[in-house]
Amino acid sequence: MEIIILKNLKDIGKTASSIICKEIKNKPDLVLGLATGNTAAPIYKNLISEYKKGKINFSKAITFNLDEYAESRALRHFMDRHLFNKINIKKENINFLDGDRADISKMCREYESKIKRLKIRLQILGLGKNAHIGFNEPGSSFNSKTRKIRLSKADNKKHKYALTMGIQTIMRAKKIILIASGKKKADAVAKAIQGKITKGVPASILQKHKNVLFLIDKAAASKLKKI
Ligand code: GLP
Repeated sequence: MEIIILKNLKDIGKTASSIICKEIKNKPDLVLGLATGNTAAPIYKNLISEYKKGKINFSKAITFNLDEYAESRALRHFMDRHLFNKINIKKENINFLDGDRADISKMCREYESKIKRLKIRLQILGLGKNAHIGFNEPGSSFNSKTRKIRLSKADNKKHKYALTMGIQTIMRAKKIILIASGKKKADAVAKAIQGKITKGVPASILQKHKNVLFLIDKAAASKLKKI
């Protein structure tokens, strides 16, 4: 496990974006796993600016997003606004969980098999305050696959259900970059990196991944014990 502690969210965005740029340059048909949220947004801002400078080409890249709400397309809209509409990615290369489909279980199974077939090379992962990854809340099985789940009422006032890659799906990515920023993530970061590996802390399973990088800022790192 590699941990890089940066000054702030802006630096997380720059660093993660430069890693993605390098990967796409080496492999233009990169299969990229993406996350939504405030922590991920600066990464996309940097990617757009590199694209506008002509330094990066997304025409062959393939993406899979981690999660979506079951009753809305809020996360797809987030991605369209923050990235997809501003770069040259092909619409048919964007993969998103879709709550509008009549047979949700079938759609989730298809998403899972497509990921298995194409293989995510680099997965960007946000972190919940309770250490969830994607929408895998505490208690999710480490063997979980892409599925519909009920959201915890405490964290979600607007939405009842979500669709998410499972923990097993996420762990299959060749490389994972977990991003976390701010004091409110400090507990989750400390437990994920230095705590026991337990279902109660979904991100703790990352300790078992062969190629994981934690890109966190000082505030998010503030509860890590010195080794
Ligand atoms: C939500 C999403 C996650 C995301 C996380 C962090 O729970 N389901 O995929 O990574 O929030 O979001 P933020 O970066 O806004 O804190």
